[in-house]
Amino acid sequence: MNLIKRPRRIRSSAAIREMVQETRVTAADLIAPLFVKHDDGPPVPIESMPGQCRLSIADLVKECVELQKLGVPGVALFPVTPDERKDPLGKESMNPDGLGPAALRAVKEAVPGLLLFADIALDPFTSHGHDGILNEDGTDVLNDPTVETLAKMAVVHAKAGADFVAPSDMMDGRIGAIRSALDAAGLTQTGILAYSAKFASAYYGPFREAVGSATAAGTRSLDKRSYQMNPANRREAIKDALLDEEEGADMLMVKPGGPYLDIIRELRDTTRLPIAAYQVSGEYAQIHAAAKMGWLDYAKTRDESLLSLKRAGADIILTYFAREAAAGLGA
Ligand code: PBG
Repeated sequence: MNLIKRPRRIRSSAAIREMVQETRVTAADLIAPLFVKHDDGPPVPIESMPGQCRLSIADLVKECVELQKLGVPGVALFPVTPDERKDPLGKESMNPDGLGPAALRAVKEAVPGLLLFADIALDPFTSHGHDGILNEDGTDVLNDPTVETLAKMAVVHAKAGADFVAPSDMMDGRIGAIRSALDAAGLTQTGILAYSAKFASAYYGPFREAVGSATAAGTRSLDKRSYQMNPANRREAIKDALLDEEEGADMLMVKPGGPYLDIIRELRDTTRLPIAAYQVSGEYAQIHAAAKMGWLDYAKTRDESLLSLKRAGADIILTYFAREAAAGLGA
């Protein structure tokens, strides 16, 4: 054939492939989500998330030391609240002596250089498992009273040592309210990572088992469609993310990640803020399950899933693979 252009030339050896590689995942891109429990007992494995455990504060601190050694710059903490501390209003979320703040203080003291992200939402604390306060007959999540609680929760967690608060509730106006509350408390350096485009996804199933927000409601498929986004909507996702930016978010998140690469890309082309992608529990469980069946190569699928998020435009990836991926990548 008389071809002038032969695209395979730049794929012909390992050296040239390495040289023209456009996207790389490094340990510095990763945030590890970690689950923390009240008691001092040994780690409790989460069945649907192989390799992930609920950790005591002491074990959490050890894990954070390891992660920092591996070059992972940040962790996102998710406390598991015992049922007896839950109520319909999620009041435990604002308790300065609660598990979340205690965990933040312990990690901040032991590993001061590690960035701490505190999830801000009421679902781990409400007896019904929703991310907000319900109306009288339980048919709706009330926006404005929920935002008031979230703003107080954010201040409590920032004071305990969170470098960033990460509202994951999807109430209207919460970014602006949280920013004002932080500033009024003198916490002008605490950042906000906004879960901006958070979809009402079936991929959160294993997480709800892990934090116990599923058992509270008696189901893994608690219906959050009146606040989380319709998976069918792209324009709406970009619109809401830009609102979060206007209200003062420092970084924007798309969640889940893998099934929503188009949203990540469009947001990347629309905003100048850093973008985080959350590779959620169901994405993690899927790869583990298929690998266990012998149907997928575990490490290759894991690495490709992370690379795809980066290629789509994510600067930061929250992933349960953080520790092992970082171990493979080197610091
Ligand atoms: C809730 C919250 C959820 C996740 C993080 N924060 C789940 C939900 O909306 O029910 C999911 C994370 C995952 O699936 O890994 N505020």
